[in-house]
Amino acid sequence: MQNQYSNKMKSIGGYLELQLSGGEEFYSSLIKLNTARNAFEYILKVKRYKLVHMPYYTCNVMLEPLKKLGVQFQYYTIDEHMDPVLDFEVGPQECLLYTNYFGLKQDTVIRLSKQFENLIIDNSQAFFSEPLENVDTIYSCRKFFGVSDGAYLQSTSDVRLKLERDVSVERFSHLIKSIDLGIENGYEDFVVNDSFLSNNPIRRMSLLTQRILSGIDYKACKYRRNSNFMYLHDYLENYNDYSFDASSVNGPMVYPLLTSSTEIRNKLIEKRIYVPTYWPNVLEWTTKRMYEHYLTTHLIAIPIDHRYTHSEMKRILNVLKTIL
Ligand SMILES: Cc1ncc(COP(=O)(O)O)c(C=O)c1O
Repeated sequence: MQNQYSNKMKSIGGYLELQLSGGEEFYSSLIKLNTARNAFEYILKVKRYKLVHMPYYTCNVMLEPLKKLGVQFQYYTIDEHMDPVLDFEVGPQECLLYTNYFGLKQDTVIRLSKQFENLIIDNSQAFFSEPLENVDTIYSCRKFFGVSDGAYLQSTSDVRLKLERDVSVERFSHLIKSIDLGIENGYEDFVVNDSFLSNNPIRRMSLLTQRILSGIDYKACKYRRNSNFMYLHDYLENYNDYSFDASSVNGPMVYPLLTSSTEIRNKLIEKRIYVPTYWPNVLEWTTKRMYEHYLTTHLIAIPIDHRYTHSEMKRILNVLKTIL
């Protein structure tokens, strides 16, 4: 749905609207779009790359723009640090797409930015990692905040696409239900609303999403993420097969726990601690012997977001302690 209402002169009087607190968006100067996959499409349109080097380890919706525009792509693998295995060339009309995994890979992003001119950083999992100058960078807002959509794009091109504004209201029910009826009762709506984002044209960010994003206390959100992350890491570091530099965490998305155990996920779900799988499609794209396949089946993405304090982290650790 596109917005035919936003450009009309404002009426006066009538009923009172939902009041949301005012403030500033985190990336107020970036291009505001409806989804991260469409931010990727935006870059492909303005840069006209002929081929994209895509990680096997990413979300299948990132293929939508490639298929829509008929841009070729080639998968690449990552190593145990989740860094790209660079056994290929990136030609002048090609680009490398890299995901800042869980918001923990800023060092790799910096290294790649020195090595490659044609680079796209997918910061969908790294909302708080600021874009590097001269690097096309995309953000997805709904992975970090209670919005149904929304994306930011830093484009290094001066070309701007003229776009209609999106409308989010029909994808919003899970967010309202979660307040009135509890998050589990909104889950079915979430799945449906999520599916509405597929093959949705590139549009400007909706007013609803922008308003919500303007009222968020970003400093507090980032602080809670860092604090919860470090609380888990203090205990889990010794059990975690994925080793990373935790000295400079910057509002990461989740705590990634990698172990050989295959029962952790079910044990957590039994206790109503929900952990997503990143990404089910990777199981179709890879063979069982590939590292990405192992990551998909064994990596537990523990929620650490602003809704939680150390008390919930403790509850999670208590469950994990019975298995690890
Ligand atoms: C790494 C990654 N990039 C991009 C996307 C797409 O984000 P959006 O839903 O905003 O298009 C997702 C998931 O949806 C993702 O997991």
